[in-house]
Amino acid sequence: MAQKVYEKPELYEIFSSRQDFKKESDFVVKLAKQFKKSKGNSLLNVGCGTGAHDKFLKKYFDLTGIDLNKKMLELAKKKNPKLTYKIGNMKSFSFSQKFDVITALTGVMSYNHSYKELKNTLTNLYKHLEKGGILVFNWAVVKEVAFEKGKIKNYVKVDTISRKDLDCVVIDNAYDPNRNDTTIETNVIFLIRKNRGPLKIVVDKHLLGLFELKKVRKILREIGFKCHLYENDFSGEKYKMLGPIFVCLKS
Ligand SMILES: C[S@@+](CC[C@H](N)C(=O)[O-])C[C@H]1O[C@@H](n2cnc3c(N)ncnc32)[C@H](O)[C@@H]1O
Repeated sequence: MAQKVYEKPELYEIFSSRQDFKKESDFVVKLAKQFKKSKGNSLLNVGCGTGAHDKFLKKYFDLTGIDLNKKMLELAKKKNPKLTYKIGNMKSFSFSQKFDVITALTGVMSYNHSYKELKNTLTNLYKHLEKGGILVFNWAVVKEVAFEKGKIKNYVKVDTISRKDLDCVVIDNAYDPNRNDTTIETNVIFLIRKNRGPLKIVVDKHLLGLFELKKVRKILREIGFKCHLYENDFSGEKYKMLGPIFVCLKS
C-alpha cells in the first residue's frame, strides 16, 4: 500500500505543537505597546504558516497573513476564517498598503540564504511599514550560538509528542557541511503513529541561512531601522537555538 505523504502543514502542526503560541503572541503585543509609534493597528504576518500566532494576534490587530506555501495558508484560513491571507514571497511581495507592525516569527528570516538576499527582504519589509511602525522577528539559529561546542556541526534534539490520536518522535538534526558559507541544513525526522496505527517515517529537509548578529544589525541600520535586540527567546530565557528577537523601528 502506498505510504501516505505528509504535507508540510501537517508536519508543521506536529513540529510546532511544542511551541506556546499564546505566550509568543502576548510578547509581540507587549513589544508593540512599548516600541510602536505609529497610530494604527494593522499587522502583516510574513511567513504566517498555519496561522497559529494569528489566532491570538487577531484580537489586538487588524491582521493580514502572507506565506509562500498555499497549503499552509489553507490551514491558516480554516483557523481564522475572517482574516485575509495571500500567497506572497517576503523577498518580492508588493502591496499598496503599509502596516504598523510586521512580524516574521519562528525563524522565517532564516529562509534568506545570503546577506544580499536578507538585505533585499528587510528592505522590502521596511518599504511596507508605516513611519513609526515596527518589524519583529526571530531566528531559527544564528552564528553566535551555532558553533558553540561544535553544536551545529552535527546538532540533534529529540522530542516525543503524545496526544489522544498521535504518538510521534521528532528528531531535529542541524548539520553544517561548510562553515565558510551562510547556510546550514536542517533535517527533521518524524516517526509518526496515528491512532496506534503503523509507523510512518517522514523526513522534512530545509536549507536555512546562518547569519552573524553584528552583521544583521549593520544591515538593519543601513536600511534605516533603529533596532533593539532581545537576548532572550520568547520563553523569556537566554536564547539557545531559537532566537534572539529583533524589534526594529522605522523612525
Ligand atoms: C518555520 S515556519 C513558521 C511559520 C509561522 N510564522 C509560525 O511561527 O508558526 C516558516 C514559514 O515561512 C514560510 N516561508 C518560507 N520562505 C518564505 C518566503 N520566501 N516568503 C514567505 N514565506 C516563506 C514557510 O512556508 C513557512 O510557513
